[in-house]
Amino acid sequence: MKKLFIVANWKSNKTIPEAKEWLEKFEGLDLEITPEEKEIIVCPPFTLLPDMKAIIDEKKIPIKLGTQDISPYIDGAYTGAISARNAKDLVTHAIVGHSERRRLFHETDEEVLSKVKQLLENSLTPILCISDMNQLEFYLKEDDVLVTNADKIVFVFEPPSAISGGGAFHAEDPQVINTNTSEIGKMIGKTVTTLYGGSVNPDNAKALFELEHVAGGLIGQASLDPEKFTHIITPA
Ligand code: PGA
Repeated sequence: MKKLFIVANWKSNKTIPEAKEWLEKFEGLDLEITPEEKEIIVCPPFTLLPDMKAIIDEKKIPIKLGTQDISPYIDGAYTGAISARNAKDLVTHAIVGHSERRRLFHETDEEVLSKVKQLLENSLTPILCISDMNQLEFYLKEDDVLVTNADKIVFVFEPPSAISGGGAFHAEDPQVINTNTSEIGKMIGKTVTTLYGGSVNPDNAKALFELEHVAGGLIGQASLDPEKFTHIITPA
């Protein structure tokens, strides 16, 4: 059985009390999660991380934490930015290159690559979103960091058109998902972990995760509700 990676992307949602309530409900659902079989990574806004980490550690909830972005710079005079070293006591992972950051915050391919490097230098795992294969082509032409660290990166094929944006679900065609997730491995030239993101929900998760080259999903809207999220982790 392949190991499943489920990443929750909470985007700009939830207050500290709401995050505590989510964790309480999630814990109450009492899932059997063996880390060898399933890796659950929740990426909340930065402000929720210290409280969530304290609860997860205290109650031994089988969840890892990640950020939704990271600075492309090291520590220093970069007002407002959170560096990989700033975050490393709280998280193990970080989403980088999400299409919302590209579209709304004008993030470039060069910056995404710098972010990946900052994370790897600080022993954090990049969850690298790839909207289309041109982005990956650019990274591979620019630098060998993705190839040399392929086993330390989680790749996500996430076409922007499939993202729910909090509205209706309209996932990408499974055939297209399988082709593109397979293509990522082929372009890297190594065995890599590839996830799919965009409108994953309790109704389609099982079928999507069974696709040959898909090792799990990046879940936005459906991760905000602990019960829905649970049904994605353990589909009926
Ligand atoms: P969605 O978001 O699951 O709400 O489509 C996924 C994402 O943007 O990472």
